[in-house]
Amino acid sequence: MENHSYQLNYISYASSAELNEEDAKLLVEAREAAKRAYAPYSKFSVGSAILLENGVVITGNNQENAAYPSGICAERVAMFYASSQYPGVKAIKVAVTAFSKAFPVIAPVAPCGSCRQVLSEYEKLYNSDIELILQGQQGSIYRLKNVSSLLPLAFTSDDLS
Ligand code: THU
Repeated sequence: MENHSYQLNYISYASSAELNEEDAKLLVEAREAAKRAYAPYSKFSVGSAILLENGVVITGNNQENAAYPSGICAERVAMFYASSQYPGVKAIKVAVTAFSKAFPVIAPVAPCGSCRQVLSEYEKLYNSDIELILQGQQGSIYRLKNVSSLLPLAFTSDDLS
C-alpha cells in the first residue's frame, strides 16, 4: 500500500489593483460578459474571457434553459466558441467572474467540474498551461497557473488508447 497526496498552489490578491494590466483587463472583459448572461433561473450571472495566443479575446457567459440541465456555463460557452473559431490557437489564460442580483458574490468563482474537464482537454491538446484568474463581483482574486491542477487524476484522451 502507498499513500499519495496532492498539493494545490494558488496566489490570492486583495483586489484587481494588484494585478498586471493584462489580467485586470481580462477580468473587466469577463465582467462585461457576465452582464450579457442569460440566467433567469439561477439569477447567477457568470462571465468568462479567454486570451488566445494570437491576442484575440473570446468572451462567454452562462446560458440557461427551462430544461435546466440543457443550460451551459460561461467557461464552456467561451472555450467551445474559441476552439470553433480558432482551431489550433492556444488559450493562454481564462478570467471568470460572477454577480447575482439576489446576493453579493464575494468569493472567487471557480469553474465547475465539467468546465475543468473541458478546459483541461485544451491544455493537454496544446501541451500548454491555461492560467486561471478568478473573482467574485469584487474583492479577492485567485490566480492558478493551470486548470489541470484543479483536476487531479483526470480522465483524458490517454485513457481512450
Ligand atoms: N456557472 C457558470 O457559468 N460557471 C461556473 O463556473 C459555475 C456555474 C453557471 C451555471 C448556472 O447557469 C449558474 O451558474 C448557477 O449554477
